[in-house]
Amino acid sequence: MNHKYQPRRELRPKALSGISEKQIDQHWTLYEAYVKNVNLINEKLATLSEKKSFGPEFAELKRRLGFEYDGMILHEHYFSVLKSGQKAPGESSELVKLMKKSFGGYRAWLEEFAAVGKMRGVGWAILYFDPHAQVLTNHWIGLHEDGHPAGFVPILVMDAWEHAFMVDAGVEGRAAYVEAFIRNIDWPKVERNLEDARRLAAAT
Ligand SMILES: [Fe+2]
Repeated sequence: MNHKYQPRRELRPKALSGISEKQIDQHWTLYEAYVKNVNLINEKLATLSEKKSFGPEFAELKRRLGFEYDGMILHEHYFSVLKSGQKAPGESSELVKLMKKSFGGYRAWLEEFAAVGKMRGVGWAILYFDPHAQVLTNHWIGLHEDGHPAGFVPILVMDAWEHAFMVDAGVEGRAAYVEAFIRNIDWPKVERNLEDARRLAAAT
């Protein structure tokens, strides 16, 4: 595949509450490494494909590709939903109506989502839109690539690797970080993500 990705600088969050600039700086550096590695592996694979060299090197790079791609894409989702000072959506919001249908209400959804984020291990807590059943569902994604329900659309993505909070809160800071993340959710952006996902589902 011949395409060179660039870090999406417009997504870099600023002035968050409870997540420091230093923490975001370190995290952003990790994200840039995923972009670099996606490009590097794609280049190597393109060279091997051109030579019809489909041996073990090709196979191992193909296996690695999902980890690097999802590392890049999930960080873009994550950074894009972080903005301080945004109010949680009200009862009349389409997002909350769908949370009610899917979980019984906003509070019930939030409790489960936070519990997923506080699970031990490295991975992600992700709220997806299921385009066929037209419901929302919370998932734990191991590493970056394990467990994505195929065809579901990420609406809200929370990084739950230790590197997301180590700078601010140390190894035992997971719970405080999850609470800080929730305080900084850009709800209008999450609502737009749901609108986009519904539009996409209606078009297919
Ligand atoms: Fe991360």
